[in-house]
Amino acid sequence: MAGTGSGGRAADGQTLRWGIVATGRIAHRVTRDLARLEGAELYAVSSRSEGSARAFAEEHGFAASYHDNPSGSGYQQLFEDPRVDVVYVATPHAQHFEVVRAALEAGKHVLCEKPFTINASEARELVQLAGERSLFLMEAVWTRFLPATRRALEIIRSGGIGTVRWVQADLGFPAAYDPADRLWDPAAGGGALLDLAVYPLTWAVAALGFPAGLRAQGHLNQDGVDVQNTLALEYPEGAAAQLTSSLQSAGPGTATISGTAGWIRTGSPLYNPRKLEICGQDGTIRVEEFHEEAEGFIHELRETARCIRAGLQESPLMPWAETVQMMGLLDQAREQLGLHYANDARAVTT
Ligand SMILES: NC(=O)c1ccc[n+]([C@@H]2O[C@H](COP(=O)([O-])OP(=O)(O)OC[C@H]3O[C@@H](n4cnc5c(N)ncnc54)[C@H](OP(=O)(O)O)[C@@H]3O)[C@@H](O)[C@H]2O)c1
Repeated sequence: MAGTGSGGRAADGQTLRWGIVATGRIAHRVTRDLARLEGAELYAVSSRSEGSARAFAEEHGFAASYHDNPSGSGYQQLFEDPRVDVVYVATPHAQHFEVVRAALEAGKHVLCEKPFTINASEARELVQLAGERSLFLMEAVWTRFLPATRRALEIIRSGGIGTVRWVQADLGFPAAYDPADRLWDPAAGGGALLDLAVYPLTWAVAALGFPAGLRAQGHLNQDGVDVQNTLALEYPEGAAAQLTSSLQSAGPGTATISGTAGWIRTGSPLYNPRKLEICGQDGTIRVEEFHEEAEGFIHELRETARCIRAGLQESPLMPWAETVQMMGLLDQAREQLGLHYANDARAVTT
């Protein structure tokens, strides 16, 4: 794994100064966890609007705030601030590519919300750029870094439930239709697949690896975004995963991983489980619980800081290759669902 070189500043144990890009829902939640992270300074926030930038800075205690003005975009001003060490990108998915590219070109380390981009082509381009600039870059799939997830994988990898044969996972909620909300807006990358399926897929891929085949079924609304999808992942020797994501209805929101010698079921929601039920070969179920004060984003934030300080460009827990491969899997599903976004038009390769 390559190290960070002449690119963004690796702080060598010093405080890292964070810049937050966008002031929407998730930016607030992640910032609350960032405030608890050791060695992190809440330094700058940027928004398209002056009011949002100032309100966010005041609420969370940022020293600097940037917003769009006649001389340029607020995001770009933050990237050009030499005091910013690392940026966290929380725009809608369709904007991730342009925003992350601008941050990397300005020499900043980047943590970018999931899904990393709209398609694999964009993901590959960003990874290549981070490599060329010797910068840290990571997709913020927070589930991967949680103690409960790491414990589940420890059990699976040590053979605690035998050989994994199937995974079932779901995530959904009845979301009120609002064409102005990014969840429903095709221009923002709306739909259940890119917003929700990432989490059931994370559990399937963690337990079984990337599949040999995928079949996707779903329903698109009048705007061309998917309101529900079911993914069937196929593996050698009949192993399989069945995953459902929905913007129309709620389910248990859990992942079940079944092996030849037992099973594990996550607590709900599967993207931030606080307990695991583990069933052994004798049918006895034991429960492991995980308590924390922070919401759970702190683990991906801590991993980002650790990697930057260690001079790593990518995290072993969320390697670039897996981010690109995951986007490729979503591309495959989108192709079958007939789900297309404006970003695809500029894709060079898929
Ligand atoms: N890890 C998780 O658990 C989690 C949870 C929710 C969302 N997410 C991800 O985080 C990202 C943001 O989600 P969110 O729920 O925070 O969205 P949101 O509430 O709609 O906020 C997105 C923000 O992005 C900025 N923005 C820039 N260009 C925009 C555009 N063309 N249209 C709308 N907003 C634009 C706006 O901030 P300014 O006006 O300040 O520039 C807006 O407030 C998505 O990629 C989503 O998948 C992750």
